[in-house]
Amino acid sequence: MKTPLTVTKMKQMKRQGQPISFITAYDYPSARLAEEAGIDAILVGDSLGNVVLGYDTTIPVTIDDMVYHTRAVARGATQTFILADMPFMSYHTGMETTLRNAARLMQEGLAHAVKLEGGEEIADEVRACVRGGIPVVGHLGLTPQSVHQLGGYRVQGKQEADAKRLLSDARALEQAGASAIVLEMVVASVAAEITAAVSIPTIGIGAGQDCDGQVLVYHDILQYDAAYKKKKFVRTYADIGTTIREAIGAYASDVREGRFPTEEHSFTSEAAAPAAVYGSGKEQEPS
Ligand code: KIV
Repeated sequence: MKTPLTVTKMKQMKRQGQPISFITAYDYPSARLAEEAGIDAILVGDSLGNVVLGYDTTIPVTIDDMVYHTRAVARGATQTFILADMPFMSYHTGMETTLRNAARLMQEGLAHAVKLEGGEEIADEVRACVRGGIPVVGHLGLTPQSVHQLGGYRVQGKQEADAKRLLSDARALEQAGASAIVLEMVVASVAAEITAAVSIPTIGIGAGQDCDGQVLVYHDILQYDAAYKKKKFVRTYADIGTTIREAIGAYASDVREGRFPTEEHSFTSEAAAPAAVYGSGKEQEPS
């Protein structure tokens, strides 16, 4: 059995130059598969809104959505470090609400750490969570919860002033006690500079090869969508969307043409109890 990642181990991996692998997951089977594949850590991202719930942005995702999906992931990946996103406005309406929401992700969702978008402006919230024993990961660069303020999904750190601000935000997060920082869609040289300047690991997505770790969205690397859109910062490793579409099409046509079910799939009066009813199922009591 592998030893799960911890925030302390993540910092040690940075010091030792060992890259950290993160992937997102939003439900039980995807988490289980990610764990079986040996991923270092799972992010239950609020990208949930885009890739699973069918929204255009992460903004409609609620704390209840995050708790529900984080708990499903925790049931699937019991030996893996789980980081959960604090969704839109769940850490902006007072410290008590921030702490209560972060605590829900850990107590009900069983996350090991929470992620907040923003820099210096959320340093007090980061500090309060850390003081309460909640490990925090920051998120800088493209922060999708602010998409309307940023004027769209754009690469960050192109102007010198923006690059400087990203660096000072990273330092503010480090000083506030954050355990790591996600850098999303940041100019690679700026991400490299930030990575060298802070002692906590940077986890990049579209931020070049010098970050201490990488994170990608589950549905992106697997092309798990009906209308998958190619992205420059993603490498795709499978085309699950096509496989699923073809498999469901074959099943539907088997049903229509009377090729499924056959005798092989039917019970007789002597039949033993099935091992499971749906999916992997839990072990059934013999009846
Ligand atoms: O919500 C998410 O999945 C994320 C990653 C894209 C970093 O925050």
